[in-house]
Amino acid sequence: MAGDKALLGFWDGHDAGAALVTSDGICCAINEERLTRRKLEVGFPSLSVKAMLKVAAEEGLQISECAVSTSDIAKTLTRYIPSLGAEYYQLRRRKVYPGALTSLKKRTKYWLTELPGYHWTEMLTRRILLQRLECVGLSGVPLSVVGHHHSHVAAAVMCSGYERCIGVSLDGIGDGLSGSLWLWQGGKLTPVAELSGKASFGLFFEHVTNLLNMRELEDEGKVMALADFAYPVPDKDNPLLSFFEVSGFSLRSRYSTLRMYDELKKVLWKFPAEQFAYLAQRVLEVHVPAMIGNAVEMTGQTSVAYAGGVAANIKVNRLIRRLPEVKDLFVFPHMGDGGLAAGAALARAQETGFFTHPRRLQTAALAPVDKHEDQKVALAAWPEFSQHQLSDPVSSACELLLRREVIFWFEGRMEYGPRALGQRSILALPDSLDIKNELNLRLKRRVWYQPFCPSMLEADAEKLLEDYDGMVNEFMTNGYMVRPEFRGVLQGVINVDGSCRPQILPEDSVSPYAELLKKLRQETGYGVVLNTSFNLHGEPLVCSVADALRTFAETDVRFMIVSNILVEKKSCEVGQG
Ligand SMILES: [Fe+2]
Repeated sequence: MAGDKALLGFWDGHDAGAALVTSDGICCAINEERLTRRKLEVGFPSLSVKAMLKVAAEEGLQISECAVSTSDIAKTLTRYIPSLGAEYYQLRRRKVYPGALTSLKKRTKYWLTELPGYHWTEMLTRRILLQRLECVGLSGVPLSVVGHHHSHVAAAVMCSGYERCIGVSLDGIGDGLSGSLWLWQGGKLTPVAELSGKASFGLFFEHVTNLLNMRELEDEGKVMALADFAYPVPDKDNPLLSFFEVSGFSLRSRYSTLRMYDELKKVLWKFPAEQFAYLAQRVLEVHVPAMIGNAVEMTGQTSVAYAGGVAANIKVNRLIRRLPEVKDLFVFPHMGDGGLAAGAALARAQETGFFTHPRRLQTAALAPVDKHEDQKVALAAWPEFSQHQLSDPVSSACELLLRREVIFWFEGRMEYGPRALGQRSILALPDSLDIKNELNLRLKRRVWYQPFCPSMLEADAEKLLEDYDGMVNEFMTNGYMVRPEFRGVLQGVINVDGSCRPQILPEDSVSPYAELLKKLRQETGYGVVLNTSFNLHGEPLVCSVADALRTFAETDVRFMIVSNILVEKKSCEVGQG
């Protein structure tokens, strides 16, 4: 690899981060939250960029270009006045109580975000960000500014492996737009249509999340989960469905973004919270698949590469997957703005001829490699935990799980994106409600209605899921229904409606995690495990072994496997539980 060129992508907004792209695809990527330990970190990602520069130096890669996404007026303003972004972060995460001017500031923010980028905002963006890059040790490298939705779509398309497809982005708002449709054909990525920021599914759901007293841009998945507990309201009686009108790949909203908040409030007044969540979820379930179905019809392309914050809604993704006109669906695993760093670099890689063909993303384990020496030092700092070298960590993990232990599992490079996929996971058997409740209330401290997810092998997916159709889903981006006769086997990992969000690994996967699933299949008949992210409530996924040990110490979980080392609490009184 030495002497090869690489592109450095970065994103300095919500869930900031950086990524390194070579002619083989994304070679390394990380988000700032994992390094600062502040969830969904905002602002210039100094630590992430430095981490990428270190990897480039170690691998002998020469950074030929940098790429950043988005240059609308609101984003450009926060680049010059970072305190604006920082203040909103504190409010959004409910760290500070709203002040007298909060409502006015919020309205101004929404109004500003509808304004697009201009030549002068792009110029100002380039000027300030070149300075920031210089501060972290990178100078003399050109910086490209890539459109917000172009970045989302490029990430999905260039990691899909499709020869031709449509690329779709749907999100809150970026560069004044809430979505876009692109055509990938003949090695060219061509814009087909865009959605004005004046009508946005993402902002609609953001408002709903906020009105349910949850954190917008973070808790939208909880709204989706809460919706499962509502008595269904027939679509004809759903007052929210008429908020939007879809025709072709275009979207009209009955209300402005600001007015919509007030109108939603009026509807919430009439319904209990879970029913309000249901009404809102139905809006996405009805309109988004219709719009993507229209896009397939318009373009004649039946494969769909999809990204943007709305693509995190796995129940909607399930409906898109099941559209008869859609033959294949790929959702970029880091679908939200946290994936824009990779997206911006991939967009430039495609434009500059780095790639002639998209490559299927093989893994989300893309963080810089943990140094063995660092791991040793971190482990040595906790002499109160006993540590044993394991000759067969997979068998040891399997044994512990069969004893109904919850285990912390730390293996290889950390995942890029919101999901734990067997690198930084908390594992348990999937068949127990007790374990689920214990995990929810004592360890993760999550709301009771938020389900856990399973990891499973493809052959088990065929057996257990009634709508498994062979479409790859190794990044946990899609929902499925569990066959009624197997719901007992998976009772710790299904929703109240019998659906689940599994990670489905191909049978020929060779990672230790896949081996663990195979071992479990030998022992239990099912290659399935409950898999939840290795973090405590409100914290980002653990990044280093030191983070993992700190988290381990704060709980009463007794066992952690770090590569081939079993870390065990000598006394289970350690931690607060
Ligand atoms: Fe976005």
